[in-house]
Amino acid sequence: MAKKIVAGNWKMNKNLQEGIELAQSLNEALAADKPNCDVVICTPFIHLAKVSDIINHDIINLGAENCADKASGAYTGEVSAEMVKSTGAEYVILGHSERREYYNETPEILKEKVDLALANGLKILFCIGESLEQREANEQNAVVKAELEGSVFHLTAEQFANIVIAYEPIWAIGTGKTATAEQAEEIHAYIRSVVAAKYGEEVAANTSILYGGSCKASNAPELFAKPNIDGGLIGGASLKVDDFKGIIDAWK
Ligand code: PGA
Repeated sequence: MAKKIVAGNWKMNKNLQEGIELAQSLNEALAADKPNCDVVICTPFIHLAKVSDIINHDIINLGAENCADKASGAYTGEVSAEMVKSTGAEYVILGHSERREYYNETPEILKEKVDLALANGLKILFCIGESLEQREANEQNAVVKAELEGSVFHLTAEQFANIVIAYEPIWAIGTGKTATAEQAEEIHAYIRSVVAAKYGEEVAANTSILYGGSCKASNAPELFAKPNIDGGLIGGASLKVDDFKGIIDAWK
């Protein structure tokens, strides 16, 4: 059975003090009312070390939102997978559509990042998803398959066990437009079938496939009730404890 996961993606929000406060409040709320799923918060790099010290890692796992495509050296401004790992983080988000689109991250670059993250013992929240134009042209299945083939299907089955897939239709990210639970389930089932064709049924059944894109406490129960939706990757609604906890509680 795939692990149930609710992961937050803070994006470029919260200064250090605000981030510490959010992590502290979330930690208290979840210590008092234990989640029925794995919980991950992915923060900007600058928060990682401090937040790692604050949270109980038995209840909340920590992740970065990106890492470099180079191991170390003269790459001004970059943060390596090894550095991320050294903060106490367990995860890294790779392949987010905002990174692909605004920072020109190609499948080849992402493949380098994936390899370095795994070599440094990080688990990966790997994002895939189509644009509105691609959805309208009914190309979504081809797009998500190509994104997996381009950056993670070179891995061995053993390595692939460290990949969590996040399906995030670009037209639903931060727009308030959620894919319907049926739309999401349909493509999640397809994604699982693509993983099964590559790695076999057992690996596919054990792969967590999260939905992302305007997921909130009000729509999470319906989405998470679907057999192929193993949780969510949450942007906007991860920035307030009550909103995020409301989504986590959808697993209760
Ligand atoms: P959103 O973002 O929940 O704000 O739509 C999701 C994501 O981009 O991970």
